Amino acid sequence: MTKEIRLNAFLMNCVGHLAPGQWTNPEDTSSDYLNAQYWVDLAKLLERGLFDTLFLGDVTGVYDVDGGSAVSALTSAAQTPMNDPFPLIPLMAHATRHLGFGVTASVAYDPPYLLARRFTTLDHLTKGRVAWNVVTSYLESGARSLGQESLLDHDERYDRADEYLDLCYRFWESSWDEAAVLRDAQAGTYADAARIHTVNHDGRYFRSHGIFQCEPSPQRTPLIFQAGGSQRGGQFAARHAECVFVGAPTREGVRRSVAQLESQLQAAGRGRDDVRIFAMFTVIVEETSALARQQHQAYLARADLAGARTLLSGWTGIDLSRYNLDDELVYVDTNAGQSALASFSKLDPSRTWTLRDALEFVALGGRGPVVVGDANEVADELQAWVNDTGLDGFNLAYIEMPRTFRNIVDYLVPELQRRGAYKRQYADGVLRQKLLSTGPYRSTVSL
Ligand SMILES: Cc1cc2nc3c(=O)[nH]c(=O)nc-3n(C[C@H](O)[C@H](O)[C@H](O)COP(=O)(O)O)c2cc1C
Repeated sequence: MTKEIRLNAFLMNCVGHLAPGQWTNPEDTSSDYLNAQYWVDLAKLLERGLFDTLFLGDVTGVYDVDGGSAVSALTSAAQTPMNDPFPLIPLMAHATRHLGFGVTASVAYDPPYLLARRFTTLDHLTKGRVAWNVVTSYLESGARSLGQESLLDHDERYDRADEYLDLCYRFWESSWDEAAVLRDAQAGTYADAARIHTVNHDGRYFRSHGIFQCEPSPQRTPLIFQAGGSQRGGQFAARHAECVFVGAPTREGVRRSVAQLESQLQAAGRGRDDVRIFAMFTVIVEETSALARQQHQAYLARADLAGARTLLSGWTGIDLSRYNLDDELVYVDTNAGQSALASFSKLDPSRTWTLRDALEFVALGGRGPVVVGDANEVADELQAWVNDTGLDGFNLAYIEMPRTFRNIVDYLVPELQRRGAYKRQYADGVLRQKLLSTGPYRSTVSL
């Protein structure tokens, strides 16, 4: 049977996101990210293409690892400046009916109570269309800006995140019983106080005593996404994630990432079908193959390798300005993200990368592969990746706004539909039901 492919759009509230240099193209509108209309138009476009979610990444802090300062990030607009993703969601939700919204939020800085309340508010306003991409933060600049000396150690960040999520689940799932909200105007009773419970938590990292402040939202717990591919990150994903986002530049790398996660899911008592797995990917599709190749060449010519080095230095925590372009990338443990360097070194031993190779790769679409062609060629490739790796779908980055997504919606989606590899309408229900075919609530909560 033909496997259905799922698509998300991957952006940040910034210029260019994963395509440093492309903002200089007069056709590219990504510098309009400051305008509400830019986001509303994008959300409507993606809904027309039946995308599952518009997925917003986010980081706290600026990219100042490359060359030891933020100069290169500021000059090249490498994910700097970057605005808050949360306020975009109600704007876009109001203009759409089915599109889901993934929001990246770090557990490093906000207390669980406040972040849980923000997600509940969004889940109400979107009528159950919100997902939380849980990240633990990798930029030391963010820690310093938030008054901390430095980030916690890599693995301890995940230990703390485990407790953070367990506490959030208690706010969302156990403070208010199902029948707690009465809205009985005749009796003058809004909520039944006997059905609302105090959460008492005294943990290693957090304390909280009190009832949760919000009434339950359509999903209660937002759909949980996770994207950290290190060993410890994978364990965290296996415990919490309902959707996992992998980032690797080769097919073998993606296959290994999926296989690693499968065994970690098994160790955590969960199955492969309990999660959806998406790979970071970029598609350049045009009406003809020749036009797509021509566009690709034009994008390569505009690519800003200094911006790419700024991003890769930030992700890996290594100042790559100190290395030669011909140096081979070799894996070392760092206290930033570990999977970024692994994906250009140990993850796929059949491929070696010089710094130049990696920068040229990152400059168009970050850690995800780029597929170029007409709709037929791109559909062939995406189906081959899904069949070879066990993926469920793709988180698609853009090179040029709005052209990348407009062409995907106009050319690729109809071709995938023709092949029976893409939905023709949204499923009913909240985002969790649309993506996982389960009930509206998270099923694997252990309180
Ligand atoms: C495809 C992909 C996308 C990611 N997007 C974000 C993001 O938007 N914000 C962020 O802080 N971290 C992001 N991360 C980083 C991870 O969530 C994680 O915090 C970091 O990589 C450290 O974990 P690791 O060592 O387990 O990879 C992303 C990672 C991957 C693989």
